[in-house]
Amino acid sequence: SNRTFTMIKPDAVANGHIGAILDKITKSGFKIIALKQTSLSAEKAGEFYAVHKERGFYNDLVAFMSSGPIVAAILEKDNAIDDFRKLIGATDPTKAEPGTIRNLFAKSIDANAIHGSDSDENAEIEGNFFFSAFERI
Ligand code: GTP
Ligand code: MG
Repeated sequence: SNRTFTMIKPDAVANGHIGAILDKITKSGFKIIALKQTSLSAEKAGEFYAVHKERGFYNDLVAFMSSGPIVAAILEKDNAIDDFRKLIGATDPTKAEPGTIRNLFAKSIDANAIHGSDSDENAEIEGNFFFSAFERI
């Protein structure tokens, strides 16, 4: 597929980086298919990151992701998954390449500014989690 799913995380929203991050995304060639600001309850955040349920950082991750508003989006570009993961940089911002979104806007591995889907299958699942069929044409 040529689509991916992203979330601007609560730290980046709280720090006023929504505009700068969306600008970087669109200037990198991604088209915005769907976009909204919303919040995740702890229950919904837990569901979204259920694959990490057994990991030591799961409770912190769920608490953080439900701590404030997020911005969810479906994006389109050739090679969307890989190109977007490259644009956001490594999970740990101290290891993210200069110029990547996490290098520019993330403060820690917990508060790392942005999410990007890791596969076509998960992009589809995650986009459907936030957007109804008529919102993602
Ligand atoms: P997402 O785009 O948010 O899915 O990040 P990712 O794909 O780069 O990382 P992954 O899916 O493996 O982990 C999900 C989130 O859990 C990360 O964004 C981190 O905030 C957090 N996380 C992952 N690994 C660690 C870790 O070793 N320690 C801590 N404290 N948090 C972690
Ligand atoms: Mg991930």
